[in-house]
Amino acid sequence: MMQPALELVIAELEKIRETSDRAPRVSRNALEQLQYSYSVAASLAEAGVSPTGPRLQQTGSNKAQMLAAVRERVCGCTKCAHLARSRTQTVFGVGNPDAEIMFIGEAPGADEDQQGEPFVGRAGQLLTKIIKAMGFARDDVYIANILKCRPNMPAGSFGNRAPTPAEMQTCRPYLAEQIDIIQPRVLVALGAVAVEGLLGAHGTMRELRGRWHSYNGMPLMITYHPAYLLRNQSPSEKRKVWEDMMQVLERLEKPINEKQRNYFL
Ligand code: URA
Repeated sequence: MMQPALELVIAELEKIRETSDRAPRVSRNALEQLQYSYSVAASLAEAGVSPTGPRLQQTGSNKAQMLAAVRERVCGCTKCAHLARSRTQTVFGVGNPDAEIMFIGEAPGADEDQQGEPFVGRAGQLLTKIIKAMGFARDDVYIANILKCRPNMPAGSFGNRAPTPAEMQTCRPYLAEQIDIIQPRVLVALGAVAVEGLLGAHGTMRELRGRWHSYNGMPLMITYHPAYLLRNQSPSEKRKVWEDMMQVLERLEKPINEKQRNYFL
């Protein structure tokens, strides 16, 4: 359905180029939107789901099929040739396709690259602890990253590097599709890179965290990345993350018991 529309737009742009002495200009944003709409339609078609049905009525199993179709494209993605060469595997996302909460991190680290699952290393263990303290199992929520490949490191060096803006821009449509399919009630961005990837916003985490933002009309809570809490063991920073998570529980109208109110990570 979207393919003919896309072709029509391209044909129209070519007509303008041929009949005018000025090259047609298309904003990067418009191109991203077109590419995104087309890839959502492609996932729906691959999953055998009618793209005309109301999105919110997608069932969990439809969502799982649609996610599987996106995962397949991600698995074979070579848009960032350098990352496709260096990765062990892509790290798509994990959890409940019908999740109420979606946690979004930065990019896979070495452990995630090895295991093919986001947040399985030390930071991941802390995230799992946070999820459990909120009263959920890891399988109840959905966890994904801005980047689906581990940012490559120079040979012989250790540690991780932050994704580049170009890598984030290239990978962002995949995450947008995941969010669009899952339609969580609340998004949680973990750290500044997740915020930049989702909102394109640069700001200090001190200013951004602890309050509600919006991503395509969806409530978005911004909080510190668990890796920051591992580096900075101060109880007051950990408590801030927990307070942010209590705001998430309140937004979801989940009861918060006394033990949770007094909890420190
Ligand atoms: N940090 C992230 O942001 N994502 C992961 O998957 C692991 C660590």
